[in-house]
Parts: sequence; C-alpha cells; structure tokens
Amino acid sequence: MPDTYHGWVAHDATSPLTFTTFQPKPFTETDVEVKVSHCGICGTDIHTLRSGWGPSDYPCVVGHEIVGTVVRIGDGVPTLASSPASREIRVGDRVGVGAQSMSCLRPDCEACADGQESYCTRMTGTYNGRYADKSKSYGGFATLWRGPAHFVCKIPDAIPSAEAAPLLCGGVTVFAPLRKYGAGKGKSVGIVGIGGLGHMGILFAKALGCDRVVAISRSSSKRKDAVEGLGADAFIATDEDKNWAKTYSRKLDLIICTVSSQNMPLSGYLRLLKTDGTFVQVGAPEQPLPPLRAFSLIQKGVKVTGSNIGSPEDIRQMLKLAAEKRVLPWIQKRPMADVNAALVDMHEGKARYRYVLYNDLGSSKL
Ligand SMILES: NC(=O)c1ccc[n+]([C@@H]2O[C@H](COP(=O)([O-])OP(=O)(O)OC[C@H]3O[C@@H](n4cnc5c(N)ncnc54)[C@H](OP(=O)(O)O)[C@@H]3O)[C@@H](O)[C@H]2O)c1
Ligand SMILES: [Zn+2]
Ligand SMILES: [Zn+2]
Repeated sequence: MPDTYHGWVAHDATSPLTFTTFQPKPFTETDVEVKVSHCGICGTDIHTLRSGWGPSDYPCVVGHEIVGTVVRIGDGVPTLASSPASREIRVGDRVGVGAQSMSCLRPDCEACADGQESYCTRMTGTYNGRYADKSKSYGGFATLWRGPAHFVCKIPDAIPSAEAAPLLCGGVTVFAPLRKYGAGKGKSVGIVGIGGLGHMGILFAKALGCDRVVAISRSSSKRKDAVEGLGADAFIATDEDKNWAKTYSRKLDLIICTVSSQNMPLSGYLRLLKTDGTFVQVGAPEQPLPPLRAFSLIQKGVKVTGSNIGSPEDIRQMLKLAAEKRVLPWIQKRPMADVNAALVDMHEGKARYRYVLYNDLGSSKL
C-alpha cells in the first residue's frame, strides 16, 4: 500500500481544491485502509473549507461520508477490544466512515465508556483533526482512506454504496436525536431546513413511525418534493406565510433544526412546540444563534438542545433501519473530478438533496 495518497487538497480558504498528494496517518495495527468509491458532500465540508468556524488546518482533505472497499486490515483488528462489530471487518468488505474517526476510547472516559464517542472531549474528526500521535486526519475526497477500525461500519447489502454515503454523517445526525427524543408512534415532529440533513430527517421520522411529520422550509420551492416524494404530512414556508408561527402553534413534540445559517426565525420555531416539547439544533451556523426572549422558554417549559453526529453503534442501527425500511437519501452523483463545481453548487443550495462524488474505479462493481 502506498504511503502517499492522492486526493483533492485544499491549501487555503479560498482557492479551488487541487488533485495532488498528501501524507495519511501512519498505518497502525488497529487501522483499516479503504479504497474510496463514494463520498457525499456535507454542509460541514463547506464550513471547513472556508475556515467558517475558525482557521482550518491546511492542507486539508474534506469529505466524511465515505464508502468504499477494505483493502488492508491491521493485525489487531480481528481482536479489537473496543469494538466487537469492527472485529468482523474483512478485506473486500464494503464499509463506511462518517464524520468521526477517533476518540480516546478509554474506560475512564464517561462518553466513550457509555458508547457516546461523539461526545468524547478528545474526539478526532475524520478530517481537519489530529490523532493522538499528532498526525493529521484526512477525509474522503481522495482515492484511499485510512483510519481506526473502531469507527468503520459495514454497509448492509440492501443499501447501494452511493445512497449509503450520505447516511454516514447527515443520516445519523438526524437519526440519533430523533431516536433519543422519542420520535415514533403518537409523536408529531418538525424538520427545519430541507437540505441534505433535513430531507433525511423527514425520511427517518416517517420510518420511525411518527404520526405527523412537518417539513419547515424558507420558501415553497421544496413543497412538492417534501410532501409527495419524501412523505411529509404538512409543509410550512416561513418566508411566505406571514402567520405560520401562529397557525401551527403548539402542534409539535419535537423539532430537529438543520439550518446552516444564523438567519432563522428561532422564536417562531419554538412557538410550534407543545408544552414540554424539545428543540434540537444540529445545523451549525458560523455566527451565534438569534437572541431569544425568555418567554419563548418559560411559557411552555420547552427544552432547547443540540446533537453531535452519532456513535458507531448509532450508525449501525441507522443502517439496519435504512436497509429494512428502504430509507434511501435522494442523491445526485457526480464524478470526483467535478468536486470544485459540485462544491459551488452545494454552496448555492442547488443539491437535491445530496451530492455524492464517485471515483472511477474501472471495472469495480461498486
Ligand atoms: N450537528 C452535527 O453533528 C452536524 C452534522 C452534519 C452537518 N451539520 C451541520 O448541519 C448544517 C446543514 O448541513 P447540510 O449538509 O444539511 O446542508 P444543506 O444541504 O446546505 O442544508 C441546509 C439547509 O438549511 C436551510 N437554510 C436556511 N437558511 C439558509 C441560508 N441562509 N443559507 C443556506 N441554507 C439555509 C436550507 O433549507 P430550506 O431551503 O428548506 O430553507 C438548506 O437546505 C450545516 O451547518 C452542517 O455543518 C451538523
Ligand atoms: Zn473518550
Ligand atoms: Zn457531515
């Protein structure tokens, strides 16, 4: 296996990515190496490439919705103490990696010991992060990916690789809070922002059996897709319907907000919650959220919280549900060589609803 990789490298916050070499982490006995067939483009890639949340660690290779074939396994993987599921990984398997590629995995870490790796204070993101040995983490806009087997999950046969990719970050980011906060029979759920995460939020809320799923978007341009295609029971266009917050007041038990900009009518969203309802912010704007009047919280005892991706076990459970209920994201496939144009289109909100880059792997059946 080469010790120099090829991929689409960002050198600063503004220049296009260039296809060039980079140095992956040193291969260790608990790592696997994956030939990348597909990688989704997540909103986080855009924030990171332009240093939107703070300076990124260039050179940087983004992409954390990675699917491919295992081409190498470390000697310690078949007996990996931290993850029985990862012990099953074999060369030739179709696997995926999401937005996290490492955490401390120590028994005295409350988050890791509790299976909540995405809340470990020493978590390593799949890109723009550092492993314990200080080597950099590099993502999936590349031909190969290498990293800890603990964070690699097998893809069920029923899910094609291109559709599997967006599930690994976007999918689990909405699935985990939906399940944690009780989305299911008897519940009405709102999904705000019908983009990559949001459209999967509608699909998973329906798959979990919610009574009513309400899509909340800025305009009505996505109404038809949301209601007729994704299965939403109602649609709110917040920039068009002046009275939306009043009309739909106290109708929802749970809201998952995927909005990536700080320009959002947050108090209006909270009005949609019933008493004791829960609002979960998963979108990560680069600026602070809008201010809130205390009465937005006081008058109904609502809870406002956030959620960070999902654990490897969350990913496995989500993939199982997706395979059983055929929850497949709506994707548009683009060759990885078109990555710069795809990033521009993603930034302009043109994706319907997730771009998935693919590598031309010749005769591979992936
Ligand atoms: N918490 C986590 O673990 C986690 C994981 C993955 C991603 N994220 C974050 O989640 C956010 C969404 O990611 P995504 O991949 O779903 O992105 P996306 O496909 O671009 O979707 C974002 C949606 O936000 C809505 N929006 C509202 N105001 C907007 C504005 N001014 N500009 C652009 N969009 C606006 C749009 O929905 P409408 O057109 O329907 O209004 C848009 O489709 C990003 O901030 C990303 O970093 C967080
Ligand atoms: Zn930890
Ligand atoms: Zn992501």
